[in-house]
Amino acid sequence: MTDTAFTLLKPELDSASGLALWIADENLLNQASNVNPAVTVITNRYDLCQQLESAGWASQFSDFDFTPYADHTVDKIIYRVSKEKPVVHHVINQAIRILKPGGTLCIAGLKNEGIKTYLDKAKKLFAGQIEQSKSDKNSWMGILHSPGAPDTELLEDQDYTSLRVVATDENVSYISKPGVYGWNKIDKGSAFLIAELVRFTERLPAPPKTALDLGCGYGYLAINCAPLGCRITATDNNAGALLACQENIRQLGIDAEVIVADCAEGISERFPLIICNPPFHQGFSIEGDMTDRFLDAARKHLQSDGIACFVVNLHIPLERKAKKLFSTIETVADNGSFKLILLSQPN
Ligand SMILES: C[S@@+](CC[C@H](N)C(=O)[O-])C[C@H]1O[C@@H](n2cnc3c(N)ncnc32)[C@H](O)[C@@H]1O
Repeated sequence: MTDTAFTLLKPELDSASGLALWIADENLLNQASNVNPAVTVITNRYDLCQQLESAGWASQFSDFDFTPYADHTVDKIIYRVSKEKPVVHHVINQAIRILKPGGTLCIAGLKNEGIKTYLDKAKKLFAGQIEQSKSDKNSWMGILHSPGAPDTELLEDQDYTSLRVVATDENVSYISKPGVYGWNKIDKGSAFLIAELVRFTERLPAPPKTALDLGCGYGYLAINCAPLGCRITATDNNAGALLACQENIRQLGIDAEVIVADCAEGISERFPLIICNPPFHQGFSIEGDMTDRFLDAARKHLQSDGIACFVVNLHIPLERKAKKLFSTIETVADNGSFKLILLSQPN
């Protein structure tokens, strides 16, 4: 699917010269563009980093970490806005720090993503210097020229780079940060899975020695699996999630390894227990694609006598999708919003 906001940015990407950065997140998956060797991509998604690297782009995988760039050293930044406000504000704030005076920030997005508000805010910060264009009534781009120093206070980015305690339950204080899925709360589906954890692990032939947290986020499932006494492998695609999960595990002294991977690709081990709250959607792709990929990853990584437990919203037809991948599929609990599905005997 073509993204009309990205279409506006493409000529800017093609013509970039000097030192140029393309800030890319999941919205950019599968959006083709010719490689420009002057441009380095910074992305917080591992799958996108791999996709762009194999297409020939110079890419950096990080949680939008701009510290490698000194003040006023960059000529151009190209950015299709992210879904979350703190991420967008972080990128705009960093742009004014690292752009040379007169350097350009090209920023685009859709009306329902708040692009007009972002452009207004950026215009104030960049001392009113903006050229705006649009491709239709929904897609807008602004080109801003840096005055060298911000004209007003920086935008509120919720202290984007800081890890901090975001939620507490009777057992643990969880650390996370903006940019991570559901960063400032405990996911209700995940809490439901953990409440039922002991009940379904009792079905295993022996207590699990290892477990895989597939799409770990800041590590809620991994942390709450630790009392089972197994060694945990936690994996995610998002740079911020991996930083937060690593920090939770370090502070809590949990026996776990945190691995960056796209749907656990590259992890060769098989596990007796897999726990997963799969993502709903990714960029513009429909939710079904991601559910299928997570189910397939579970099939590949589950031991023949193991159990994979997925928690999903009631409306997701996970059971039907899992049919071709597992011989046994059981919906073991349903709380009116979420259901827990146990998958075993991978095909
Ligand atoms: C619904 S969240 C669950 C997070 C966490 N397990 C929890 O319970 O709070 C789904 C997670 O899948 C991750 N994810 C999305 N696409 C992925 C991919 N291709 N490979 C691995 N993880 C991915 C997201 O970054 C997110 O952390």
